[in-house]
Amino acid sequence: MNQPQKVTANPVDLLQDLERVLISEGELADRIERLGAEISRDYAGRDLVLISVLKGGIVFLADLMRRITIPHAIELVGASSYKGGTVALGGVRVTKDVDQSIAGKDVLLVEDIYDTGNTLHVIHDLLRLHNPASLEICALLRKTKPQVQKLGVRYLGFDIDDVFVVGYGLDFKERYRNLPCIGVLKHALYE
Ligand code: IMP
Ligand code: MG
Repeated sequence: MNQPQKVTANPVDLLQDLERVLISEGELADRIERLGAEISRDYAGRDLVLISVLKGGIVFLADLMRRITIPHAIELVGASSYKGGTVALGGVRVTKDVDQSIAGKDVLLVEDIYDTGNTLHVIHDLLRLHNPASLEICALLRKTKPQVQKLGVRYLGFDIDDVFVVGYGLDFKERYRNLPCIGVLKHALYE
């Protein structure tokens, strides 16, 4: 029988793959609580729909929606950028559209990270075609770099350096999404 492949299965093991923790679980929780309060105030009395992008955005969505105190709906869209590793190559493919009509609704696009901005740009264009009453962006992270796409981010969690990060929904080759913090992966792991 073949030797079983060693897999790091729990966050304690996964944490050992980090060069450093960039944003702790507590810092994420504090910031998201404040974002939720701000969104609840701004959208009071409006027909709010939070739309997140699979797969990376779902952890942020799950926490953010529980910090929003006003009624709202959620939707998921799918996008995959043509990359499996750590460097963006540019092309974005939409893999899933919204299930319910968002025409006339106040849409807030909830994304994990604004890197080049290509994904958000494509999803933003797609959602505009559905004629929402308004369309704004809430991004947990934004990389400090000359972005390819210039999109206004209405709600932002953190500006970070242009480094490859994992955790809290963000993956490297589909791993590390379950880390409760955001961290910088050890270089040796992706060489
Ligand atoms: P974009 O370059 O802004 O289009 O980013 C596209 C997608 O790449 C994001 O939605 C993430 O899924 C992924 N991504 C970008 N930067 C990182 C990173 O530092 N770590 C993990 N995934 C990333
Ligand atoms: Mg990814």
